[in-house]
Amino acid sequence: MKNIQKLTIAVLLAAGLVAVACGKKADAPTAEAPAAIDGAEVYTTYACNTCHGDKGLGDGAAGASLNPKPRNFTDATWKNGTDLATVVSTIKNGIEGSGMAPYAGVIPDAEIEAVAKYVLKLGGK
Ligand code: HEC
Repeated sequence: MKNIQKLTIAVLLAAGLVAVACGKKADAPTAEAPAAIDGAEVYTTYACNTCHGDKGLGDGAAGASLNPKPRNFTDATWKNGTDLATVVSTIKNGIEGSGMAPYAGVIPDAEIEAVAKYVLKLGGK
């Protein structure tokens, strides 16, 4: 009986710690982030440049053998469109059947928005 009680307490403590950790994570973007995020930094931190190229011309080494090719952001038309909300959703959901992976849950939302603005800028949009 004692052991079971100890185990129960340990499990509850662990769950509490996880809850606290998650709570902190969720608070961080709204508390500090928005103004400070540099889309260019997100672009290289998450290796977008390895496929899309440093200048967004779709000429990164890791994208050379992909079919379809990574988007050249200066292309006049993009598969899913170039308004900010669409680009954010493309980055979150990826493009099925291509090398463009879904980044939802990988990159925090505020950083996705920053990198979306950055790729639009690289494309002159
Ligand atoms: C492994 C290579 C690869 C990486 C890394 C990669 N992409 Fe892509 N991306 C692609 C490919 C390939 C496409 C084109 C898919 C298609 O045309 O169907 C694409 C398409 C896109 C598009 C869609 C444009 C459109 O046509 O609607 C955007 C925006 C984009 N990528 C942004 C990013 C961002 C931001 C990152 C980094 C967080 C990133 N990509 C990382 C390969 C990559």
